[in-house]
Amino acid sequence: MAAVCANCHGKGGTSTKPSIPNLAGQNPAYRLEQVRQFAGGRCRNEFMEGMIRAMHSDEKIGMVLFYAAQQVAHQATANPALAAQGQKYLEKTCFRCHGTGGRDNAQIARIAGQQPGCLRRPLQRYRAGGGVRANPIMTPNTKLMTDADIKAVLAYVSSMPWTSRKPSRQA
Ligand code: HEC
Ligand code: HEC
Repeated sequence: MAAVCANCHGKGGTSTKPSIPNLAGQNPAYRLEQVRQFAGGRCRNEFMEGMIRAMHSDEKIGMVLFYAAQQVAHQATANPALAAQGQKYLEKTCFRCHGTGGRDNAQIARIAGQQPGCLRRPLQRYRAGGGVRANPIMTPNTKLMTDADIKAVLAYVSSMPWTSRKPSRQA
């Protein structure tokens, strides 16, 4: 099963494609909810919905636990100056909920090390405040972001090093 998934999501769940999310290292409770939503057809990616619909519930749990135990492989930034600007923004505005380490919890996905293409869309959708990813918490927090802010934050976030899940707030 994981071999099929690795075609797109990468070996051990670290994707090498900017538009396909890492599966590694996400909180299992968060991930199961994500998978449940796919099965219910809320995230509209037909191919993924089909694959997940075809999985038995024990396969889903096994898959979630497997990927939760993998580490995201570190991806260096191509633009350190931009990433430094993004770090400033994150540590001013976003750290209250995402921590300075960008880690996950049962309600929030790990953003540290995630593919930038997979975070840009949700951020733009939160900012727009309607439709697919409307969210009463993220919409007010992204309303003032310019496209340049998003670019900088994502340059930083996608190059953040792996940190273990245990303490939820510190770097
Ligand atoms: C042909 C490529 C492809 C294959 C093969 C594939 N996926 Fe995906 N997967 C995607 C894409 C693209 C997305 C992002 C969809 C979106 O954001 O709407 C995704 C999203 C996901 C998500 C949600 C991740 C998130 O953070 O939002 C999960 C979970 C997932 N895939 C699990 C799997 C599993 C398990 C398998 C193997 C059974 C698999 N995928 C095989 C392309 C693929
Ligand atoms: C008050 C708490 C809070 C603040 C502040 C906050 N967030 Fe979030 N963020 C959340 C919650 C809760 C979610 C999950 C929402 C959902 O399920 O769609 C989330 C989701 C996200 C996601 C989507 C992750 C994914 O893989 O789907 C991104 C990206 C993100 N936040 C980035 C940011 C950035 C950048 C900032 C600062 C500009 C920020 N957040 C500030 C609470 C917060």
